[in-house]
Amino acid sequence: GKEMTTSGGCVPARQQLATLVKDALGSLFPEDAGMEPLVAACTNKFGDYQCNNAMGIWSKIKGKSSEFKSPNAVGQGIAKALPSSPLIEKTSVAGPGFINIIVSSRWMEERIHKMLIDGLGSWAPSLGLKRAVVDFSSPNIAKEMHVGHLRSTIIGDSIAKMLEYCNVEVLRRNHVGDWGTQFGMLIEYLFNEYPNWDQNSEEHAVDKLQALYKSSKKRFDEDPLFKKQAQQAVVLLQGGDKRYREAWEQICSISRNEFDQVYNRLRVVLEEKGESFYNPYIPSVIKELESKGLVSESEGARVIHVEGQNIPLIVVKTDGGFNYASTDLTALWYRLNVEKADWIVYVTDVGQSLHFEMVFYAARRAGWLAADVKQLPKATHVGFGLVLGPDGKRFRTRATEVVRLADLLDEAKSRSEQGLVDRGREDIWEADELEQAAEALGYGAVKYADLKNNRTTNYTFNFDQMLDVRGNTAVYLLYAHARICSIIRKSGKDIDELKKIGSLRLAHENERLLGLHLIRFPEIIEDALADLLPNTVCEYLYNLSEIFTKFYSTCKVIGSSEETSRLLLCEAAAVIMRECFELLGITPLYRL
Ligand code: ARG
Repeated sequence: GKEMTTSGGCVPARQQLATLVKDALGSLFPEDAGMEPLVAACTNKFGDYQCNNAMGIWSKIKGKSSEFKSPNAVGQGIAKALPSSPLIEKTSVAGPGFINIIVSSRWMEERIHKMLIDGLGSWAPSLGLKRAVVDFSSPNIAKEMHVGHLRSTIIGDSIAKMLEYCNVEVLRRNHVGDWGTQFGMLIEYLFNEYPNWDQNSEEHAVDKLQALYKSSKKRFDEDPLFKKQAQQAVVLLQGGDKRYREAWEQICSISRNEFDQVYNRLRVVLEEKGESFYNPYIPSVIKELESKGLVSESEGARVIHVEGQNIPLIVVKTDGGFNYASTDLTALWYRLNVEKADWIVYVTDVGQSLHFEMVFYAARRAGWLAADVKQLPKATHVGFGLVLGPDGKRFRTRATEVVRLADLLDEAKSRSEQGLVDRGREDIWEADELEQAAEALGYGAVKYADLKNNRTTNYTFNFDQMLDVRGNTAVYLLYAHARICSIIRKSGKDIDELKKIGSLRLAHENERLLGLHLIRFPEIIEDALADLLPNTVCEYLYNLSEIFTKFYSTCKVIGSSEETSRLLLCEAAAVIMRECFELLGITPLYRL
């Protein structure tokens, strides 16, 4: 069949149906141009998709139309006016006008078979934007990288991957906290207390650095003389004094080293553009905001008033210095005007929502962001809840205050490794295969346990739960995927050959259900990106595994007369599972 294509991608079934409904609405109600077609996955067994326009239309035309005497008649009218399409098998209209649409099995078979040949990239939906910035992870130099930063890293990476799947160029930004008055304080303290600090590598451990940071803060708060010195140190540092600058760079590299350990383990790629990067641009950006009449004076500070907020956004402090907000306004300006991003996504805890709301407001008023939040360029804050420990309180890995995320990940890995050893894998696998599997399971478990929750809720960190082979866990799903791979291996057939010579049929009811779930994949990605909710993908993946199990327990694959077709269906399910893993940052395993 002929399908509309946009920039090489293929249009998901839901959107094709929406286009058909739009045509029908246009021909039935020409005076009401631009009515939005409402098409969604069906929630009952009478259809695969449903069209929900009739009720809304009925409430508008009730009593005014001679043609339509009930919402059901409106539904019937729309169904009749649908242009004929190879996508639709049949339609039926339920009571108040809902149109149930059954998709043609033939259409699904062709689409899935074509995907197997062209690759799943050919299913990528088109989002209508070119470049995005995802600002995520973003820990602070000399302070601990805590579980909140871990959440940001995991969620941000997944969002970046979904955008990348849709052929958006993503600038993965690590907005590291590497600037500000605290560095004057820390460096001054180091110079006073540890004159040979820069030669003493023992002091260069990150937990030492965090402890030093705490003591320097204490001294800063208690000792007015030290406070003065620290403030002078900031001036020296920001003025480019060599000795101060070098100490700052050394401190940054100690922390960076710690961050990189986590990124390497998780295989997350980020490009650091810390707060310091934007510092030189701040004065001109503030000037621009001032020239647009957005900045006013309040109690000695320069502020931007935000409609509906009692407290303004401070952009220049009373001492003339800049702050978190000045940096964020400047970074936003840079990303929009220099980097030319269409969409900027910030991933932090929900506690920072108000900050971003105010920054975005100022940027809209300045004309940097589109006035209509749905138009490009746009900015979105992706907030997430807390990570809780088994005690229901804020999660801490140790009694001490320093949480080493690398230790946490090591534990996930070693527990997984033990699980594999218990199942006798040590005897049949090479050491590096065991290690790779342990990493995929352990880190995958940590990521999935985080991503499967709606990000806005708090979630409880629990090793036993996330590593359970039977629950809704990465471990369970990785096993499910490996099982499909083993079915294909055991058949002894060359799948690439079957793709060329074989055909795929969705004859059995459970084959059809599986096929229908598969063709929905691109719609799920659209939904996940519309709300920036990676848990949508987790849910889809978990359901895929359940639907596959249902298929496999009723449809014999190896040795049946439908073997070729069913092997192709197995392969399609495995390909889509792997892409889901990929989008969630989980490394798929082919045997377990
Ligand atoms: N460093 C901040 C923190 O640890 C997060 C920065 C988020 N990004 C931004 N552009 N403000 O909370």
